[in-house]
Amino acid sequence: MTRKPLIAGNWKMNNTISEGVVLTQEISNRFEKEWAEDVDVCICPPFTDIKPAKTVLDTDRCKVAVGGQNVYFQPKGAYTGEISVAMLKECGCSYCIVGHSERRTLFGETNEDVNLKAKALIEGKISPIVCVGESLEVRDDGAYIDYVCRQVEAAFAGIEAADAVTCVVAYEPIWAIGTGRTATPEQAEEVCAAVRATLGRLYGADVAEKMRVLYGGSMNEGNAELLLAQPNIDGGLIGGAALKAASFIAIIEAAV
Ligand code: G3H
Repeated sequence: MTRKPLIAGNWKMNNTISEGVVLTQEISNRFEKEWAEDVDVCICPPFTDIKPAKTVLDTDRCKVAVGGQNVYFQPKGAYTGEISVAMLKECGCSYCIVGHSERRTLFGETNEDVNLKAKALIEGKISPIVCVGESLEVRDDGAYIDYVCRQVEAAFAGIEAADAVTCVVAYEPIWAIGTGRTATPEQAEEVCAAVRATLGRLYGADVAEKMRVLYGGSMNEGNAELLLAQPNIDGGLIGGAALKAASFIAIIEAAV
């Protein structure tokens, strides 16, 4: 089956509001409206930049969505520093990244947290972009497929097929993130295919065939086309190359 690719830009902790508005405006100016028929595009700015970015995109009637980079699973309360699903929703978010390896390694996010966050987002009708991926140590040990598939199983525990189909999985090998060392198309395809097989075991082949599995890790305008040509890679989660309109737009064009 043909899945519509998703190109998601993760700005990480980059861009103040004014910088983010400039970047969003540049993306909007270069985005050809008809691309929206063939590719979904989303930018995930820092929390403070989401609403200003959304305002720019809405004003231009640009078909680029906004998403969060993280969320807390509780609906409200005494959780200093956290952001709820409803807060993201009111900023106009359609997607939210959960379980990014930087959250897991730097901030101690567990598989259980990822699962709770994904469930809260589903409840709030925001599509989770569930990140999974192995460290270099795990890859060198050789058990990386098992490791990543276990992360997928844990993230989707207790989630029904009807909800899972609204979710996106992003395979991001940690050794490829921000390092310039991209996984080869074959390496990325091997794990993305295994992720889809896991989703198939959990939900059946029909559901797994509908779900989007992205690749992330030093994807750029030079390597996007080959990565996106792989049968089980349905888009990209882009970090560094999403911080410049020219490279982000070039990756979107590679997906059209
Ligand atoms: O969320 C994005 C990924 O961490 C990839 O980042 O493209 O800078 O390697 P990168």
